[in-house]
Amino acid sequence: MGENPSGAPGPTKEPTVQAADGGTRTTGPAVQTANLWKIYPQEPRPVEAVRGVGLVVENGEFVAMAGPSGSGKTTVLNLLGGLTSPTEGTVRIGGQEITALSDRELAWVRLNRIGFVFQSYNLLPMLTARENAEFTLMLHGVPGRERRERVRKLFGEIGLEGMEDRFPLKLSGGQQQRVAVARAVLGEPDLVLADEPTANLDSATAEALLDVMEKLNRTRGTTFVFSTHDPRVMERAGRLIRLVDGQIEDESTPDGA
Ligand SMILES: Nc1ncnc2c1ncn2[C@@H]1O[C@H](COP(=O)(O)OP(=O)(O)OP(=O)(O)O)[C@@H](O)[C@H]1O
Ligand SMILES: [Mg+2]
Repeated sequence: MGENPSGAPGPTKEPTVQAADGGTRTTGPAVQTANLWKIYPQEPRPVEAVRGVGLVVENGEFVAMAGPSGSGKTTVLNLLGGLTSPTEGTVRIGGQEITALSDRELAWVRLNRIGFVFQSYNLLPMLTARENAEFTLMLHGVPGRERRERVRKLFGEIGLEGMEDRFPLKLSGGQQQRVAVARAVLGEPDLVLADEPTANLDSATAEALLDVMEKLNRTRGTTFVFSTHDPRVMERAGRLIRLVDGQIEDESTPDGA
């Protein structure tokens, strides 16, 4: 920070930066949405899953999203990660409007800037736990030895030691979930979107996983947005957003601000 590698005068923080795919992105909040709607076409009537959500998550925030089943948490996370497109409204990631990107550009943003933990884990059944976890590192061209070492270290921290060579079907739900979290964070993305990352974990394991997430948040400034039903997880968030019927009902911080 504070270094200007080009040596040229001017602000150290560029208003725009060149992306590896040749595109540019502007800098801005980690996530910003405006009037976000998602209406699923459905018989007998369309489902209004997300209804006008406006949300700003600053870089380095650790944000939990709570709300009853069906309130739209998964849909919001999918919209933030560009996994589904909004019926109306915009999503910006680091100032870049992802709703306006081509498929190729969006794929680049997802690979390089976002880690995603799915509610249903989505591990590839024909790959081992390690191969699943290191998948993004492989796409980034990280050499095999370093990949193995990073997986081994993280697996140790989240109670998966010795599980490297197991296939997902031979792991419990909670173990699969931790492999999915490992996959999302190992590539060290700027933003991690996690859909109920502790849903199937006992409290000690959930705490260990949160420790790993918090450490990344503190040391690397990784932004986290995760959904949860667990009050203990909500307590550890820097900010809590409550969704009801596809709308933000209220927001709070632990100190009551
Ligand atoms: N692909 C889809 N097609 C039609 N309706 C959908 C689809 N996905 C979700 N929905 C509906 O949209 C609403 C929001 O669902 P969503 O999965 O976002 O809720 P959620 O808050 O994640 O719930 P949970 O806590 O159970 O995971 C629900 O009414 C759901 O039935
Ligand atoms: Mg959900």
